[in-house]
Amino acid sequence: MKRVAIIGVTGAVGQEFVLALDKHPWFEVKQIAASERSAGKKFVDAIRDPDSGILKWHLKEEIPEYAKDMIVESVDDIKPENLDLIFTSIESEAAREIETRFAKDVPIISTSSAYRYESDVPILIPGINDEHVNLLNIQRKNRGWKGFVAPLPNCTTTGLAITIKPLLDNFGAQKIIMTSMQSMSGAGRSPGVSALDITDNIIPYIPKEEEKVRIETAKILGKLVDGKITPADLKVSCTCTRVPVIDGHTESVFVETAKHTDPESVKKAMIEYSNKVSVADLPSAPKNYLLVHDDPTRPQPRLDREINGGMSTVVGRLRQDTVFENGIKYVLFSHNEKMGSAKGAVLLAEMLYKKGFI
Ligand SMILES: NC(=O)c1ccc[n+]([C@@H]2O[C@H](COP(=O)([O-])OP(=O)(O)OC[C@H]3O[C@@H](n4cnc5c(N)ncnc54)[C@H](OP(=O)(O)O)[C@@H]3O)[C@@H](O)[C@H]2O)c1
Repeated sequence: MKRVAIIGVTGAVGQEFVLALDKHPWFEVKQIAASERSAGKKFVDAIRDPDSGILKWHLKEEIPEYAKDMIVESVDDIKPENLDLIFTSIESEAAREIETRFAKDVPIISTSSAYRYESDVPILIPGINDEHVNLLNIQRKNRGWKGFVAPLPNCTTTGLAITIKPLLDNFGAQKIIMTSMQSMSGAGRSPGVSALDITDNIIPYIPKEEEKVRIETAKILGKLVDGKITPADLKVSCTCTRVPVIDGHTESVFVETAKHTDPESVKKAMIEYSNKVSVADLPSAPKNYLLVHDDPTRPQPRLDREINGGMSTVVGRLRQDTVFENGIKYVLFSHNEKMGSAKGAVLLAEMLYKKGFI
């Protein structure tokens, strides 16, 4: 068993990590950590509101037994020499310092943006750009690290990049216009989105999100040549909004392709990609990596977030665009806390383990 730690364990993504690693066949959680506020407490007490006593466990599953009484440690008490891998789920400023400190000795898989835009750091989606893992060896060499930092994309990028990949490979995707309807849990828990702001409302701005999606999509779908990623030649324009949905991001996507195509061919390309996806045999991989609905009322967060444990990217409303000659439109759904963060990070760990990086 590989020995792992979770840093940021009390947060929205951290709790998902606790669940995703429960009885994992290859990884055993040896240490958990969060901020000084939580350090020294048992996990169940660290996620309890000190004033009201309310337990802030936000998943429908029970808290896994292994985690309940584990002591949440201070980051300074994390012992990299006793670990094979660290998962981090903390905001990017704190993540930068913490990931830099530990990557010297041990691999880090991160859900934060701290390292995403560095030239020797790949942004990995298992099943989409597996060949970019080779950049991790260059990163190690460049920085003299025994470990590395392997970040996941922003959770809004994940579904977009997954659905664009078969379009790029088959029809040459060139321009993308996307409007997101992002869930509240995507904003995390501390402080998160205020109920007073989001109820009966749509907030048409998420700081830094649109720029992240634009840069990350092209980097993920780019090519690793001579130790450098050349971003895909894609123009991405997006509008990111926050909506009163608990979990799961919905995105309305328009794509202009180089080659003319039609909804049936796009559906076929997506399904074929899904059927042959490289990570299909890994423990956290979903039965359907990509799922395409014909029912025009799908995807819907309430119905589609449960499918395959939140690990499938669900597409619907595939249509020909009527403004541009080579235009395709669709709506996608991707679970921000499953494939888009913790469980996706565990899937990435499984892929890196199989490839000998962990
Ligand atoms: N939410 C999502 O759907 C999602 C998806 C993809 C990526 N992400 C990214 O994942 C990261 C975590 O997001 P989240 O939504 O889980 O946030 P969150 O709910 O606010 O949780 C933050 C976690 O970080 C801990 N923390 C804060 N400062 C720390 C420090 N200095 N040292 C150690 N631990 C510290 C907190 O511990 P305390 O409880 O002790 O304060 C808590 O465990 C962010 O970078 C976010 O952008 C989030």
